[in-house]
Amino acid sequence: LIIVLDFGGQYNQLIARRVRECNVYCEIHPYTLSLEEIKAKNPKGIIFTGGPNSVYKEESPTCDKGIFDLGIPILGICYGAQLMMHLLGGTVEAAHVREYGKTWVNFDKTGKMFDGMSESSICWMSHTDYISKVADGFRIVADSETCPVAAVEFVEKELYAVQFHPEVLHTQEGSKLLSNFLFDICHCAGDWKMDSFVENSIKAIREKIGAGKVLCALSGGVDSSVAAVILSKAIGKQLTCVFLDHGLLRKDEGDDVESVFGPSGHYDLNFIRVNCQQRFYDKLAGVSDPETKRKIIGEEFIRVFEEEAKKIGTVDFLVQGTIYPDVIESGLGKSAVIKSHHNVGGLPDYVDFKEIVEPLRDLFKDEVRKAGLELGIPEKLVFRQPFPGPGLAIRIIGEVTEAKVKIVQEADFIYREEIAAAGVDKDLGQYFAALTNMRSVGVMGDERTYDYAIALRAVTTTDFMTGEAAHIPWEVLSKVTNRIVNEVPHINRVLYDCTGKPPATIEFE
Ligand code: XMP
Repeated sequence: LIIVLDFGGQYNQLIARRVRECNVYCEIHPYTLSLEEIKAKNPKGIIFTGGPNSVYKEESPTCDKGIFDLGIPILGICYGAQLMMHLLGGTVEAAHVREYGKTWVNFDKTGKMFDGMSESSICWMSHTDYISKVADGFRIVADSETCPVAAVEFVEKELYAVQFHPEVLHTQEGSKLLSNFLFDICHCAGDWKMDSFVENSIKAIREKIGAGKVLCALSGGVDSSVAAVILSKAIGKQLTCVFLDHGLLRKDEGDDVESVFGPSGHYDLNFIRVNCQQRFYDKLAGVSDPETKRKIIGEEFIRVFEEEAKKIGTVDFLVQGTIYPDVIESGLGKSAVIKSHHNVGGLPDYVDFKEIVEPLRDLFKDEVRKAGLELGIPEKLVFRQPFPGPGLAIRIIGEVTEAKVKIVQEADFIYREEIAAAGVDKDLGQYFAALTNMRSVGVMGDERTYDYAIALRAVTTTDFMTGEAAHIPWEVLSKVTNRIVNEVPHINRVLYDCTGKPPATIEFE
């Protein structure tokens, strides 16, 4: 076990992730974790994270100096490095120039952290204070042009510190440095795997929940599915999953979810499918403004969920499929509302429950997928592309009707089928068909037509914040076009969206 002591930095989860990538188990704890608690956990090493404060200020987060005498190797990163120096008698001051961004750092290759690394390489710096004097016993083992103390070590006491951020990918040899710390210094075994995460979570959840009743809003997306399966393995039928089919899902999706989680599936849980399609179509009738549509769907979703929850009665816990990026995003300052996002993660204050369980709170998306595979969830679900909470309603421009939903479902199904058949799906972040509300003139079998245009969208993206229109091979697009105009009634034109994000968004509304 490695303990990451959290001093409030923005990359803390990344540290945990890098440690896990080395197959070493790791837990993040607030800096207030007591010495006793640390000792009880018997970690092989401790990492102090960065943080936004200045160590020399009274109110800044700190820790018990006794931690340095436990005989447990410690690596301080950025604020963590400064704190180590400050507490042990060194000096930290405000720098004249803030060092931010990619920086060349020179390493003293006799330093214990640097085995197998170059003599200098690019590191990610982000600090306004700097270590102006190191504490007694420490040796400076790295510097940069503006930072005289970029790394220090005190080998006998197993204390190490770096001013830069080895956890950030911009630090070219950061992973190597971390693995040196974990293996050469902490002597970790490196035999931890995702199945241990899954096993530990199941155990921890079982303990936390006891005989309690748990409610989960299942969307069929990978996060809520993995969360539900972990819960099901932990507490079986104490868990009830409510799945709302609001009639805005992709073709056959409601049945797919039911076949995995319903009574004919192989998980031990209570599954309730609420068929509320008509209710949503009625609410959306005559509404064409995108934000209004989103709000209606979000509100109606909560209302239906509440009604179901009422039937179940008081529950002890509500499951949320929150994953780590959601945690960061909700923690950031306010930015302009581009779209009011709805997802099952943002559920109600209204349901009668005592506590929230978030089994995936520490994981990144790809780790959630790994956990999903470990748990035996079908690949189709595990690798499902992101699908927005308001569903097809935001892929139908203008008013939503049941007939339009049917059109977009069919076109989207063909598109996905052909993309998969051509094997290009692995390169795409997201791809789907959307129904424009443009109608145009066409000709079919000597007859004039006046019908809708379908837009095809495919984007490459890593974070969904920005993206590029994907270069889908022309043969694939032309096959999809042929099939759509032939197989889907009321479509006589197919358009490909060449716009990146920005200036467009990925979804159409
Ligand atoms: P945009 O359209 O904003 O989409 O470029 C970025 C990503 O977010 C997804 N998206 C949503 N996901 N609830 C969600 O859970 C929503 O309301 C929502 N709107 C957009 C979109 O599919 C893309 O992956």
